[in-house]
Amino acid sequence: MALAGKRVLLIVSGGIAAYKALELIRRLRERGASVRAVLTKGGAQFVTPLSLSALSEDKVYTDLFSLTDESEMGHIQLSRDADLVVVAPATADILARMAAGMADDLATTVLLATDKPVLAAPAMNVRMWEHPATQDNLDRLRRRGVRMVGPNEGPMACNEYGFGRMAEPEEILAAISRHFGRPAGALSGKRALVTSGPTHEPIDPVRYIANHSSGKQGHAIAAALAALGAETVLVTGPTAEPDPLDVRTVAVTTAVEMMAACRAALPADIAVCAAAVADWRVASRADEKIKKGEGGTPTLTLMENPDILASLSTGPDRPALVVGFAAETEQVVANARAKRERKGCDWILANDVSPETGTFGGDANRIYLIRADGQETWPEMSKTEVGQRLAEAIARSFQDAGDGVA
Ligand code: PMT
Repeated sequence: MALAGKRVLLIVSGGIAAYKALELIRRLRERGASVRAVLTKGGAQFVTPLSLSALSEDKVYTDLFSLTDESEMGHIQLSRDADLVVVAPATADILARMAAGMADDLATTVLLATDKPVLAAPAMNVRMWEHPATQDNLDRLRRRGVRMVGPNEGPMACNEYGFGRMAEPEEILAAISRHFGRPAGALSGKRALVTSGPTHEPIDPVRYIANHSSGKQGHAIAAALAALGAETVLVTGPTAEPDPLDVRTVAVTTAVEMMAACRAALPADIAVCAAAVADWRVASRADEKIKKGEGGTPTLTLMENPDILASLSTGPDRPALVVGFAAETEQVVANARAKRERKGCDWILANDVSPETGTFGGDANRIYLIRADGQETWPEMSKTEVGQRLAEAIARSFQDAGDGVA
């Protein structure tokens, strides 16, 4: 785990997003990092020292002139006794004070005194975010090496819409994880490409053709490959799944976009195609919403989408190991076998997607792993376990092949 044993100094300043800092502490600690928190006066209006202390299982530091704090842990020591300083939320005010090099409370004094890398998660009203003063401050901080995660676009607590929402704890965690680098493992040094989720094929600006894929299976595979040390790119259609840790996620909508993103991610040693790519798209997408009642019921003419798995399997820059999925509703193994040969991949993972199995969107899966020289039947297990079992099988195949072609 990239975060195990790492020490994070978390500065919580005064924004409505401060509550997300609690979740961030929980997730960091789950991954083996220790967290020490500094709470500003403004931050204490939104979260209590007690809740931060309970989650971090450590004292929370609030006061620059506390004799007790100074005797236990001087502010200089506090600033240096960390591997990474994270400011979340980073309000417009604390960013301005950081940019100006001020040291008028414990948080800014720590930030001025630290020789450790700093990551900030800005959070503020959209107009404050867009103000030239804030943008200037951000430029200055970036030039000094402060890294930013977010903000995101969306509705805000102040009833406005735009950029300024703090990045979600999962996104901040991913940025922290990236900072510390990928964990070493059996797939260290290998590059993996994974596709996941459905594609949406537009009919007009408001309607599209899609399927029931949730992205749970593909995302779990990407997470498992990254956990074994593979440098992993996840190309995903629209899903509600959070981006997996230690993975570069590329979001796409259509099959054509997915194909282009996969091509851009090559070369890779491993490709796993778990996406439920639409086989067809509408030949001519309407520019305006198709109106009901005008010219009767519309007829959609479909055309075939590019086959990403087949193209990866047969292309000049073919990954050493190409793994496909087969989503079947009848004769699961026989159809999957034929599909493996037709598409030219090395392995295919067949699963039954009949509605009664709950495979689409559910948390469990039952897999038949089909290779040229044999077949394995896996018992039903969680999609996370399927991802881990597949990643381990991939790692073994590289080891068996002397780390060359699987
Ligand atoms: O996302 P979940 O809700 O977790 O569900 C998981 C899943 C059922 C989607 C997954 O386990 C799965 O079976 N994925 C493949 C779905 C699919 O499209 O299967 P297929 O039999 O139609 O396609 C065969 C293979 O060709 C797949 O690897 C698919 O990614 C690939 N393909 C298909 C069409 C196309 N145009 N390009 C492709 O790359």
